[in-house]
Amino acid sequence: EEEELKLLSQECKELLLSLPKEKGWRTPFLYQFQGFWCQPKEIQSIISFQKHFKSRESDVILATIPKSGTTWLKALVFAIINRRRFPPATTSDTSRNHPLLTSNPHDLVPFLEYKLYANNQVPDLSKFPDDDEPRTFATHVPYPSLEESIKKSESVKIVYLCRNPFDTLISSWHFMKILRPESLPQFSLEEAFKMYCNGIVGFGPFWEHMLGYWNESLKRPEKVLFLKYEDIKEDVVSNLKELASFLGFPFSVEEEREGVVIQEIAKLCSFDKLKELEVNKYGKAMTFSKHFENKHLFRKGEVGDWVNYLNPLMVKQLSQLMEEKFMGSGLSF
Ligand code: A3P
Repeated sequence: EEEELKLLSQECKELLLSLPKEKGWRTPFLYQFQGFWCQPKEIQSIISFQKHFKSRESDVILATIPKSGTTWLKALVFAIINRRRFPPATTSDTSRNHPLLTSNPHDLVPFLEYKLYANNQVPDLSKFPDDDEPRTFATHVPYPSLEESIKKSESVKIVYLCRNPFDTLISSWHFMKILRPESLPQFSLEEAFKMYCNGIVGFGPFWEHMLGYWNESLKRPEKVLFLKYEDIKEDVVSNLKELASFLGFPFSVEEEREGVVIQEIAKLCSFDKLKELEVNKYGKAMTFSKHFENKHLFRKGEVGDWVNYLNPLMVKQLSQLMEEKFMGSGLSF
């Protein structure tokens, strides 16, 4: 942590002094920046992203709060957009070279704040080759804090993937325990639960993150597509159809009639398939920490695993909180 703080710009260090702070999940502190909680390094890259990013009309932005299925969404969108260049069939010869078989999805669709604008870098994104259009980026930044041209544009598309808060909490707790340095004390579920319900979680409060994108998707459905992890699990075909149409890469009549391509994309991007790939078992894509391995991105991939962790009181508390926060919004789980 100290090493990390040393690498921050003077501007960012000064800013931190003025921000409210709380104990963090995997770092000593989280800071409240533009209304949401995040780590010093993230603040620095978000400022840089807000200052330097300029959208192109065809850009696609994938947005999530951490542990909602970001890796899955990246894989699905990559496979859909690139299906002519890279046919997804898991059996045919031509598909042996599919990038998803040898690269982790995070290496195919970069995070704005963890990769492109991380560590004081200002990437030259104008050099994106034309055959990489649309440029596809990912972010955890809440809607109001996206760079202005993304929000203003009529054509830049945003896909938000939302997961029920119970599973997101459990997934986050497991993940943060892995990333948490040994110098920090143990992190109990009780503690995580309390912080989560108080809104103190990376990019949270979770309800504000979800509602920010939800409300925008109601106002501008052609710009923001709001998907749910549980819905995709339950009916992958209709969700992929909706996603492909939204992105401007609709499945053709033949593709839909045969249904093969859609099934193949679903299979290629499935938890079981990705988890077993060499690159995801032994590789490293993310720069969360020196020791971070891709395998930690694939834990269980199930809906409802929270029942194994939360006691009845916790379930009641979190349910009440959700009812209160989501009341009247139309968003429910
Ligand atoms: P669990 O911890 O509940 O297993 P993110 O990608 O945003 O970090 O989210 C991680 C969660 O998505 C983890 O949930 C992980 O197992 C699950 N996940 C990863 N790949 C998936 C896939 N291809 N399909 C469904 N879930 C997936």
